[in-house]
Amino acid sequence: MNYRFFLSLLLTATITAVQAKTLVAYYSYTGNCEAIATALTQQIHADVLEIEPAEKGLRYEANGYALGTPLLNAIKANPNDSASYPAIDPVSVAPADYDNIIIIAPLWWSQMAAPMQTFLFNYGRQMAGKRIGLIVSSASSGISGVEADCKRLVPDGNYYGKSLWIRASQVRNASTLVSDWLQQINFTDNSTTDGMKIRVSDGTNAIIYELNQTSAARSLYQMLPLEAAVQNYGNNEKIFYPPTAVSYGADCIEGDCPAGTLALFSPWGNVVMYYGAASRYNGLYILGKAIEGEDHISRLTGTIRVETFDSTTAVEVVNTDRKAYTTEAYTLSGTPATHSQAGIVIKGGKKVVVK
Ligand SMILES: Cc1cc2nc3c(=O)[nH]c(=O)nc-3n(C[C@H](O)[C@H](O)[C@H](O)COP(=O)(O)O)c2cc1C
Repeated sequence: MNYRFFLSLLLTATITAVQAKTLVAYYSYTGNCEAIATALTQQIHADVLEIEPAEKGLRYEANGYALGTPLLNAIKANPNDSASYPAIDPVSVAPADYDNIIIIAPLWWSQMAAPMQTFLFNYGRQMAGKRIGLIVSSASSGISGVEADCKRLVPDGNYYGKSLWIRASQVRNASTLVSDWLQQINFTDNSTTDGMKIRVSDGTNAIIYELNQTSAARSLYQMLPLEAAVQNYGNNEKIFYPPTAVSYGADCIEGDCPAGTLALFSPWGNVVMYYGAASRYNGLYILGKAIEGEDHISRLTGTIRVETFDSTTAVEVVNTDRKAYTTEAYTLSGTPATHSQAGIVIKGGKKVVVK
């Protein structure tokens, strides 16, 4: 499986739905912008859209850029005519659904690569008022021409003050450059400001964790629900290996781990649930902390289920038959509810009143 194909499987040409309010739209001809998109989406919670030219297999750089140059010249000559823009594969996206839209595009002859211009010609006016971020990759040329194209095509975007320029030679450091940029522009991922909470349970014992805003925590959150075997490690940890690897970027936090800490041990890829304190260790990244059920951690056995936990869900179901809740109902703090327990319990992610 080659690199580009593998990445495109990860990113998918269609939108991957993850309750996000950020859209990352990218076009990439030789893979640099795709790698940047990957680095970015490991750090923020976002839907991802890859723009693809309708005509496949074109070599824009061949014969002294005989294809790439006329495409851009056509746009420059008649920027308001849709016929000037090369066709792209149909996309299904509603910019209205997003607060943030991050555009990642290569620079071609000091302009925005033509297929991304097509996308923005079609959708840019619907992005009015949205927070717009721009990331550009070039070999060496400065990116002001691409910024101008973006402003022409998304005239009423509410732009983050600074675009990110990543030269082709810097793509291997994309994770750090992206992380620094997100901080500089004070990027706010609205979908996660309430805090990501997860529930870990073996059917008898349950713990609620609140995750931090690091790339590793977001990566774990996005792969839920999952099931895994819980194992003992040392005399202060329960660990499990998620079925797919948790990704992490330069933003991850090392530090001492008091009891109740949830962490990723990145050299091995396992998640650690501490019930006794541990010291800082290289590559041991803090993911969050237990907010309920910390004393249940040491008792976890067998197969655990890890799922998102939403304690703010409105009451949606009223049921008077308590016996309906013998096995899969939980108290608001996440511990299993007994069938005789009246009050509000959580079942199937919803609050249920048991009278
Ligand atoms: C048609 C074409 C024109 C380009 N023009 C320039 C240019 O004027 N200046 C420059 O620094 N890089 C130029 N590049 C290089 C790309 O901007 C650079 O390699 C970028 O990282 C490619 O991103 P990608 O791998 O996502 O396609 C050009 C590339 C192509 C294919």
